[in-house]
Amino acid sequence: MENTNNNPLVCFFDSGIGGLSLLYECVRILPRVDFTYFADNYRMPYGSLTHEKMLEYVDEAFSFIAAQNPAATVVACNTVTAQCVNYLRQKYKFNIVGIQPAIKPAAARGGKCLVLATPSTAQSQSLNLLAERYGCGVTEIHACPDLAAYIENNIANLSEKEVQKLLPQIEADSVVLGCTHYVFIKEIITDFYNCPVFDGIEGTAAHLAEILGIFDHRAQRGQKISFKGGDFTKNRVIFNRILVEKGHLSQNIEI
Ligand code: DGL
Repeated sequence: MENTNNNPLVCFFDSGIGGLSLLYECVRILPRVDFTYFADNYRMPYGSLTHEKMLEYVDEAFSFIAAQNPAATVVACNTVTAQCVNYLRQKYKFNIVGIQPAIKPAAARGGKCLVLATPSTAQSQSLNLLAERYGCGVTEIHACPDLAAYIENNIANLSEKEVQKLLPQIEADSVVLGCTHYVFIKEIITDFYNCPVFDGIEGTAAHLAEILGIFDHRAQRGQKISFKGGDFTKNRVIFNRILVEKGHLSQNIEI
């Protein structure tokens, strides 16, 4: 592997494993960037925390992140984006990219658009403003209080039946995943609602690439990916699983 000293570093933050699919997409489209994934698995779900408690935990994580001197940081958590991204952008000088539910492309299809999110995101001003602005047709926001924790705690053995019990029984013409943990059950959700399901992954990854201004993607050299905070071993194992599932077996990735 070539020396990677000159790669810019991008940090990620999520409460747990939710942000790993977005990390994969960023690793895929930005092979000249190193990544460090910070998580707080033992204290999730963030979606049920008070605003004050969430700020306290996020502040702790971001003090570690700021010490890495990143070129940018991705908030790979809809809940933290909804509740804390304005605060973080005021406090830190590096670029902060936050994932947001993909309401715009889903609602543009017309019909009823169902947004599934954590309780904290569901009641947030930012999600409700987004729905008001782009939710042409009918947009319904539903909180799934126990779903993110179920996915986090059962990732090795997700049960379709158990997941279905945690989903609202509603007819929909499109579904928007308003929590990054839900990407792990995208197929179950697609079958359950029998309609297209949208996540904000590709859009957020493209936004990061635009901010970094790195266009020489084909000139690959080695990239380093590390995992810190929370259950970092679990996060690394699940990320490796995603790499295998996607058939991404690059010799150039050092984990
Ligand atoms: N993955 C996070 C999100 O996108 C939330 C999970 C949690 O409640 O901690 O909202």
